Amino acid sequence: MKKLNVGMIGGGFMGKAHALAYAGMPMFFWPAPAVPHRHTVVDVNDQLAKDAADRLGFEHYSSNWREVVANPDIDIIDIVTPNDSHAEIAIAAAKAGKHIISEKPLARNAAEAKTMLDAVNVAGVKHMVAFNYRRTPAVALAKKYIEEGRIGKILNFRGTYLQDWSADPNSPLSWRFQKKIAGSGALGDIGTHVIDFARYLVGEISDVNAVAKTWIPERPVQSGGADKLGTVKGGEDVPKAAVDVDDEFTTLVKFANGAIGSIEATRNAWGRNNFLTFEIHGEKGSLYFNYERRDELQVCFADDPGDAKGFRTVYTGPAHPYGEGLWPIPALGIGYGETKIIETYDFLKSIVEDTNVSPDFLDGYQIAVISDAILESAEKGVWVNLNKSVANVR
Ligand SMILES: NC(=O)c1ccc[n+]([C@@H]2O[C@H](COP(=O)([O-])OP(=O)(O)OC[C@H]3O[C@@H](n4cnc5c(N)ncnc54)[C@H](O)[C@@H]3O)[C@@H](O)[C@H]2O)c1
Repeated sequence: MKKLNVGMIGGGFMGKAHALAYAGMPMFFWPAPAVPHRHTVVDVNDQLAKDAADRLGFEHYSSNWREVVANPDIDIIDIVTPNDSHAEIAIAAAKAGKHIISEKPLARNAAEAKTMLDAVNVAGVKHMVAFNYRRTPAVALAKKYIEEGRIGKILNFRGTYLQDWSADPNSPLSWRFQKKIAGSGALGDIGTHVIDFARYLVGEISDVNAVAKTWIPERPVQSGGADKLGTVKGGEDVPKAAVDVDDEFTTLVKFANGAIGSIEATRNAWGRNNFLTFEIHGEKGSLYFNYERRDELQVCFADDPGDAKGFRTVYTGPAHPYGEGLWPIPALGIGYGETKIIETYDFLKSIVEDTNVSPDFLDGYQIAVISDAILESAEKGVWVNLNKSVANVR
């Protein structure tokens, strides 16, 4: 069995999710395309890196990502750091001939994402951007129904991503609230997952018309460390600094194929946890998905008998996408970890079989172009056409 050595840069929230996927992938998908070996994990200092290696099962640790990128034993560089370091690490990794998986958003803006896309294209390495939610089996099932024409021509996509972990003004000013590190706020952090759904399920977005708001203009400063996602309280006594990114946005969208829709995201919606949803209606039916009930796809077909028309629940299982590798009984429970396991499986398969994998850096770049256009539209108060947007550096 082929083995691929992983150098993972970052040992926070996503470091945990990716390490779990490296360990778990061959347990679900066997024979695995290759067995990922957790070779080296990097964090900002030796203590954090050693702790990450102990927790996440890596053989080695380092506080110098450049050394790991240069290590000839490493096959894959996995970027799970905050957004401001994705480009520098990815470009160096591409030059060193490593295959690269980067967390989303690919970069802080489209111009930066373009430099990463150019680097992987020149190097000819495999590249993936980690929009893992599309690998929830129920989402892949929606894609299958759409491709089979089961809901006909798509007319409308409504997508939301609502959370509440930053609704408390005393939740800290982590890197996620600083433009120089994150690039944007709820838009890049969670809105990009909905944009990925929209492009994956419906097609390319051609125009946006957005509003964006920063509801909480300053927050208690969090001095370094992994983002605690709003769980650090007692911020009343801590010095505050300005938030310079969006807390939430809503945009109308037009698709190149004529469909219309809306996309919104916020981290300030009390009561919502990981409310990542889409509802799509076409000429022959509708589909509804809510990540908080991720084993389920709600479906309604126009030709259902009149006395049985309405949404019904399909529970994903062995008969559905990725079912051959996952649990043997429908509704046994798909988790966040499984989406990362499937992502790892598809990425390693693309390396071993020398095929392209989606979403790749081109998708990550295109989503960055759309994100920049959303901010441009919100600032100017006008529709922005993607071909004419200032973000489009193609
Ligand atoms: N796909 C998803 O569902 C999802 C979910 C959360 C976060 N993310 C993305 O994952 C990335 C990381 O987010 P997170 O939530 O894990 O952040 P985090 O704050 O929990 O962890 C980041 C880690 O990277 C380390 N780090 C920072 N700079 C570094 C550097 N130069 N070299 C080595 N280590 C460094 C930090 O010390 C920390 O341990 C971000 O791009 C974020 O947008 C994706």
